This record gives sequence, C-alpha cells and structure tokens, in this order.
Amino acid sequence: MGMASFALGCPTPAGWLAIALGDLDATMRDHLHCERKAVASALSLIHQYPERTELVRALSRLAHEESRHVMQVATRLRRRGVVLTPDRGDLYAQRLRQRVRKGEPARQLDLLLCAALIEARSAERLGLLAGALPEPALATFYAELAASEEGHRELFFALARPLVDEPSLRMRLDEWISTEAAIVRALPVEARIH
Ligand SMILES: [Fe+2]
Ligand SMILES: [Fe+2]
Repeated sequence: MGMASFALGCPTPAGWLAIALGDLDATMRDHLHCERKAVASALSLIHQYPERTELVRALSRLAHEESRHVMQVATRLRRRGVVLTPDRGDLYAQRLRQRVRKGEPARQLDLLLCAALIEARSAERLGLLAGALPEPALATFYAELAASEEGHRELFFALARPLVDEPSLRMRLDEWISTEAAIVRALPVEARIH
C-alpha cells in the first residue's frame, strides 16, 4: 500500500485472529452484514448530502463495490453450506456514531471521518485474515477485499478534507483515531469483523 492518510490508534487485539479463524463461519456471516451496512451508509450519505456532486459520484460507485462484496461473501457462504443469520448488531459502529456531532459542517465531517476509520479497521482485519487463511482462494479473496477497503478509507478521507481547514481536519481526525482505538480496546474479542 502507498502512504496512507492516517494510521489507526491501536492494532487489533492479538487474540482476535485466532478467534476469528476458529469460527470462520461466524466471522464470515458478520462480514456479510458489515458489507451490507457499508452499502446502506454510503447510500444514506448520498441521501443526506445530495448537493455534493463529487460525493454523490464517488459514493454511488463505492456502494456498488460494497454491494459486490455482499454478493461475493454470499457466494462463499453458500459454497461452504453456511446459512446467514440475523445481524447481531454492531456495538462498534453504534459507539462511533454516538460521537458524531450535530450541526454542519461538523456532522458531515464526523460522518466521513468515522466512515474512513471503519474502512481502515475493516481493511486491517480483512488483511489479517488474508495473511492467515489456509485456503489459498479464500486468502486471495480477503487480500483483494482488504485492498478495496483501504481504497475506501482514502476516499472517505478525501471527501472529508475540503470541509474544514487543515489544522481543524487534523485535530478532529486525531480525536476520531483516539476514540476508535478506545472503543476497540473496550469491546470483547469475538469471531466477527467489528
Ligand atoms: Fe466492502
Ligand atoms: Fe468499504
């Protein structure tokens, strides 16, 4: 990967990978829901900020990619004979969303930075899976997804950038990085992507 726009505030807890691989079916069911929610939140941003032509263009494309990820994970679940279960909810995303400020442009800035952080964490974890999965085809699939989510992280960051001046952007980004890291450290380590 090239130079990333920012680094996560902490790595995923060391025990996560073994737990995620230990119940890969559960991890992949959660993963499908993550991709599904990524489509929904991209479309929701288009709904909320229709006047930003560049955002509409970029996020409609992103939603298309995320929906392809949903299809790809669904295909692999089906091949594995795994039936999808209802979404167990997502404390990680809920806790992040609680920190989104009201009023513009603070709200839009927070939504986009928060999305960039979620993409960064997803890319990190999908990359960890890619590096450890014994089945080569599945490892390759996860490596491709990790690269895609890495691109999304840069896209959300680029969309956030013009909203405020550079020092304000960096200050708020640092706050989001600390917040995200604190949330990750507080959550139980489970067989799920978030
Ligand atoms: Fe995705
Ligand atoms: Fe993504």
